[in-house]
Amino acid sequence: MIDRIKSLEAEAAKWLADTAEEVEDFRIEFLSKKGKLNALFDQFKQVPKEEKREVGQALNALKVSLENRLEELKSGLSVAGSKKGDGPDVFLPVGLDGLGSLHPLTLVRRRITEIFARMGFSSEDGPEIETDWYNFTALNFAENHPAREMQDTFFVSKEARQQDDVLLRTHTSNVQVRLMEHKKPPLRSIMIGRVYRNEAISARAHCQFHQAEGLYVDKNVSFKDLKDTLYHFAKEMFGKDTKIRLRPSYFPFTEPSAEIDISCFICKGKGCNICKKTGWVEIGGSGMVDPNVLSSSGIDPEEYTGFAFGMGIERIAMLKYDINDIRLFFDNDVRFIGQFKGA
Ligand code: PHE
Repeated sequence: MIDRIKSLEAEAAKWLADTAEEVEDFRIEFLSKKGKLNALFDQFKQVPKEEKREVGQALNALKVSLENRLEELKSGLSVAGSKKGDGPDVFLPVGLDGLGSLHPLTLVRRRITEIFARMGFSSEDGPEIETDWYNFTALNFAENHPAREMQDTFFVSKEARQQDDVLLRTHTSNVQVRLMEHKKPPLRSIMIGRVYRNEAISARAHCQFHQAEGLYVDKNVSFKDLKDTLYHFAKEMFGKDTKIRLRPSYFPFTEPSAEIDISCFICKGKGCNICKKTGWVEIGGSGMVDPNVLSSSGIDPEEYTGFAFGMGIERIAMLKYDINDIRLFFDNDVRFIGQFKGA
């Protein structure tokens, strides 16, 4: 009996219908009063008592499956295809919902590039695998300076002679040096890319993230120019009421140096969880390019001055889109990355 149930199910699964009449034929064949299903139900009386339970369940399941098959044929969605061809119908229109969307980091990256392009900044790129010289020494990090340790560097190879060490860049400031070596002032560029630090991965920190580096070198570039540029950027990125605050800080390659804070646009400076009740959130570091950095890149510090800044892209995206876990950017779960529409 179980065998007969199975073969009837297989027979129904193979049944194809292109017209309403053919669907009706299916119903008559399997599900009508005199159909094959009822014939099996009639035989149920003869099933030995100890098998009744098993056979009864199989029969009920068959009934459900036949009814489903009838619905499938009715809606024209025959799983096995239609009589006209064996495979799925390739001419069915494609749902536009399946189209891809841009990663939130790409959206933020593009927006940053656009804002700075309108201020005359070109876009430049540099290597992620770098030598000690470009990542540290040329940026005025003294050989045993503790700031090297603070950067949690991933070394690719550590040579006996310090200046030959190869590493994964810990910031995008390496591109500043490469740029100044190859182009003469006036220089006005934005450099966006991936950086690496040997940090434990958590909701707030990752071993890889992105930075946007900015550099402006010319005659008479002042700290006021830096402040104006950052202020304009903050308003464009986070809204016109955004304020900025520069806090004194230290970087070997800038003097004076400052951390860049923006007023918390979520609570409008009143104090919330995002800004830890301070009304301000940090987005990066900045300062006037140290004369030593200009000279190591072949630019005369007597003639030129410049400013530089570096901002965390994930940080900006997290603030902009209210994202509370940095790991989400790298998991590539489409339920997360597919929900952002524009920065
Ligand atoms: N490179 C610094 C960092 O990664 C940021 C910075 C860039 C600071 C340029 C000053 C000037 O923290």
